[in-house]
Amino acid sequence: MSKPELKFTVLPGDGIGPEVMTSALEVLHVLAARAGLTLNYSTHPVGGAAIDDCGVALPDSTRDACAAADAILFGSVGGPKWEHLPPAEQPERAALLPLRKHFQLFANIRPGLLYRELVDASPLKTERIPDGIDMVCIRELTGGIYFGQPKTTRTLEGGDVEAIDTMVYKRSEIERIAEVAAQTALARNGKVCSVDKANVLTTSVLWRKTVTEFFAQKYPQLKLSHMYVDNAAMQLARDPNQFDVLFTENMFGDILSDEMAIVCGSLGMLCSASLGTGRNTHGLPFGLYEPAGGTAPDIAGKGIANPCAQILSAALMLRYSFGLDSLAATIESAVREAVGDGYRTGDIAFGGQTVNTAQMTKAIIERL
Ligand code: IPM
Ligand code: MN
Repeated sequence: MSKPELKFTVLPGDGIGPEVMTSALEVLHVLAARAGLTLNYSTHPVGGAAIDDCGVALPDSTRDACAAADAILFGSVGGPKWEHLPPAEQPERAALLPLRKHFQLFANIRPGLLYRELVDASPLKTERIPDGIDMVCIRELTGGIYFGQPKTTRTLEGGDVEAIDTMVYKRSEIERIAEVAAQTALARNGKVCSVDKANVLTTSVLWRKTVTEFFAQKYPQLKLSHMYVDNAAMQLARDPNQFDVLFTENMFGDILSDEMAIVCGSLGMLCSASLGTGRNTHGLPFGLYEPAGGTAPDIAGKGIANPCAQILSAALMLRYSFGLDSLAATIESAVREAVGDGYRTGDIAFGGQTVNTAQMTKAIIERL
């Protein structure tokens, strides 16, 4: 029998993206060699790098390469060099949003994990999070106000100008993301908090009704609660560990997951998975895996970025798109051990001794 193959597309992007991607690939190479797996990946431009090379943030060749693979390992896109472009042509919007829509990556899973060893990284007082934080945000990613039509600007009679975004949800879109939230909760502590604005928005009224019926019918064993988004923002800052699975629509999830990220300390530690409706050649979800942190242009090219989020994103890829849960867990424990043993890049060092990207990567590889 030939060796099982991991076929994925690598999109390093801009800023620190290529540097931390190198780290993630090194980790995957070591692990694959040990587990008898073949890595089959090709690297393609995306974001600002693609604008420079090909004139557009998401070239067709890049999209085709993604379509031919079982998963996408994504770095990050954007930076000051492209900020002068019209918003719709900027790397973030012109690369990420079309990728999400094209591959119907409707489920965004963002673990909010803060190790006990790193509680100092959180802006919250340590007594509020003595054991760190362990929650997950499930964000709907291809619906709502991000994509709803009409989305227009027009000049009114009399000269005033009006802009319109449209928030739309179908019951079927809510049910499929509710399924992901339920599965996530089943694998954790069985608690889901669904966040909406049902006191104001009609989409939220449908959201709450659909979620309530869906859980009552399919997952009565799970503990479902509901919270308004303004309250959820406050509760996240007050007591993040009251949440196990926080589950919400696209724009609320965008905002709340950033709040969760800062509450969890360094962006350099947080990974994410965006899973599609499509199944890959393994019969598992096609997905895009990316760190939460962005391109960090201020430290790009210096070799000092924290590679953990990219490495942990690769672990999520192994888990969700390749069904290699124990290999994913191996990476996750190695990262945790390296941090626990005191290896810290600048963002998580708090004035203590720091290591660079390559040293951090080596420390993780030694602990695999
Ligand atoms: C994110 C980002 C994107 C979003 C931007 C870059 C379009 O903020 O992934 O959270 O708003 O979804
Ligand atoms: Mn965001």
